[in-house]
Amino acid sequence: MNKRILIINGPNLNLLGKREPTIYGTTTLTDIQNTLSEQAKQQGIELSFIQSNHEGELVNAIQQQGLLCSCEEQVDAIIINPAAFTHTSVAIRDAILATDKPFIEVHLSNVHAREEFRKHSFLSDKAVGVICGLGAKGYEMALSYFIDNLYE
Ligand code: DQA
Repeated sequence: MNKRILIINGPNLNLLGKREPTIYGTTTLTDIQNTLSEQAKQQGIELSFIQSNHEGELVNAIQQQGLLCSCEEQVDAIIINPAAFTHTSVAIRDAILATDKPFIEVHLSNVHAREEFRKHSFLSDKAVGVICGLGAKGYEMALSYFIDNLYE
């Protein structure tokens, strides 16, 4: 059976390409999703994508795809850029932990080289890994990790 991976993007990431390009680059979210879809297709992996500016919508998607649907429909892993919710959201942390699925946290920018408040994440201590500062490539590296490791 094909593996499924949920790719989550938090608030303001719908603006990628237009938003502070010196920090976040000029690649759009659609570009990123298209590249990931191509990478996944070659490996027979099914991806689903959600981007939302609303915390509750992200919590609902995580619950729905990670726990509440039938076992066969549940995702096997999660790649998440929680954006600003990284630094604030206990609710997203709790939702992800409730699924008991492995997840990788991705940030386009190097959050450790920016403002102090970006150094704290509510997710990092539970993540399989954290990738930051490598731009859109970070998502591809996270997917590549799961492609190599989900079948073990
Ligand atoms: C971000 C970093 C966060 O601090 C910020 O709030 C974002 C994007 C990143 O991808 O670099 O919106 O997650």
